Amino acid sequence: MENKLDILKKKQEAALQGGGETRIAAQHKKGKLTARERIHFLLDEGSFEEIGMFVTHRSTDFGMQHEKYPGDGVVTGYGTINGRLTYVFSQDFTVFGGSLSETHAEKICKIMDMAMKNGAPLIGLNDSGGARIQEGVVSLGGYADIFYRNVQASGVVPQLSVIMGPCAGGAVYSPAITDFILMVEHTSYMFVTGPNVVKTVTHEEVSAEELGGAATHATKSGVTHFACANEIEAINQVKNLLAYMPQNCEEKPVPLPYDLADELRPGLNAIIPENASQPYDMRDVIAEVADSATFTEVHKDYAENIVVGFARLGGRSIGVIANQPAYLAGVLDNQASVKAARFVRFCDCFNIPLLVFEDVPGFLPGTDQEWNGIISNGAKLLYAFSEATVPRITVITRKAYGGAYDVMNSKHIGADLNYAWPGAEIAVMGAKGAAEIIFRREITAAEDPREKWLEKEKLYSDTFANPYRAAERGFVDEVIEPEQTRSKLIRAFKMLENKVVNLPRKKHGNIPL
Ligand code: HXC
Repeated sequence: MENKLDILKKKQEAALQGGGETRIAAQHKKGKLTARERIHFLLDEGSFEEIGMFVTHRSTDFGMQHEKYPGDGVVTGYGTINGRLTYVFSQDFTVFGGSLSETHAEKICKIMDMAMKNGAPLIGLNDSGGARIQEGVVSLGGYADIFYRNVQASGVVPQLSVIMGPCAGGAVYSPAITDFILMVEHTSYMFVTGPNVVKTVTHEEVSAEELGGAATHATKSGVTHFACANEIEAINQVKNLLAYMPQNCEEKPVPLPYDLADELRPGLNAIIPENASQPYDMRDVIAEVADSATFTEVHKDYAENIVVGFARLGGRSIGVIANQPAYLAGVLDNQASVKAARFVRFCDCFNIPLLVFEDVPGFLPGTDQEWNGIISNGAKLLYAFSEATVPRITVITRKAYGGAYDVMNSKHIGADLNYAWPGAEIAVMGAKGAAEIIFRREITAAEDPREKWLEKEKLYSDTFANPYRAAERGFVDEVIEPEQTRSKLIRAFKMLENKVVNLPRKKHGNIPL
């Protein structure tokens, strides 16, 4: 027996060594942790249970039968994060560059299947040179097996991908299907075709970092939701995000204990500038309304005209979607619409109630917008809100103009409650433009057309630039003092806690992609 135990221990030790000391040192030199170190920091101390430690590849081409490493370049298993079950795979760059073989893929698929069956989140720590070149098509098949499971698991359990090294070619499509991507600055990159191919085909000279680094994807493409300064920051962000989410689509997020006290926020009464064209930072409104320091912004540096993220309200997890008057006056455009639509759909998948702060002058005009599909993209946001069955509340802080009024979680598309602050302006369009159109003849015929225009602008503004016309119709449920917003919302979300909506039976809808 002793001998047998020795054999086991030796095998375990070999597996823990990954690709060996030299490669581990090279990994550290790049400022990267090893696959096992990452798991160590991610999971609760001592909770990791490994599955498939002794798996090796089956490849025999190119002398591969003589080069085998237990685990085959990926560490897989389960453990807990803040006491809650989580599945994890962590690619080991020290073994064949973390490249994906048939068996490497099988290991990942095994824990994906478990995550789905047992209803717990899946975290992927990606650090891989892509398809195992020595294996050919079986490696490509392995990727597709993973993609297929990513899709099956979508909306069943939360899936988070952390990119901690290379992630190129078709390999990018697994993270792309998952719910959130986090990238580490300067040590990770993602692209479908790398700088060399780009140079050959388009003659563009671009570095890997510029083409697909964290900063690029956080600001230009929106592919990553978070750009993290280092690996530990990325790991901590994963833990933070999971706290807002339930384990699976059948559960609700776990509320934190919260003692309600005086929930008035007098600061909110003075937050809107006197002049309606002056900006203010909607993040200040969110910070006042949400539980102290609980707002985690998603996609912070992308499409900044809309702010989305998770927060807590009286201890409950909520998803916040807010127009941002401090950036492009908070207009809706292509990028903002898609960013918000995807966030709305994530929250709806996982029973996270939605809170919308609305201050939107309308959709951004221009050829760039029209030619890049603002019709389809705006429709995505409209569709996402309309389809969402979680509790949904809107607070109109100032402007709610045109089609954007309908889109931003209006009562008409299924919002449960719609509040407006007293300075809210809810109309088809701004008073100036409206007056010009409907009083054109009078204005042109007037002795002083400019004065007439101003007079008519005031008339339109007095008639519509307020929340009361909407309140008379019940499109706004209540006009509230800004300072009451937090306490009203806490009560309202509690009231909506057990909301049930049954959508018409269908296979699935056809969101305008
Ligand atoms: C097998 C690989 C590998 C791969 C790296 N290695 N990538 N082995 N298959 N895809 C091995 C190297 O041989 C080396 O082994 C070790 O990993 C580390 O690689 P280095 O090149 O020394 O590291 P570095 O300089 O950091 O460069 C990393 C890299 C580079 C940029 C990822 O290795 C690289 O370009 N690899 C090939 C990438 C690629 O073309 N992959 C296929 C993409 S197509 P030793 O023994 O020296 O440690 C694809 C399609 C997916 O993935 C399709 C899905 C649908």
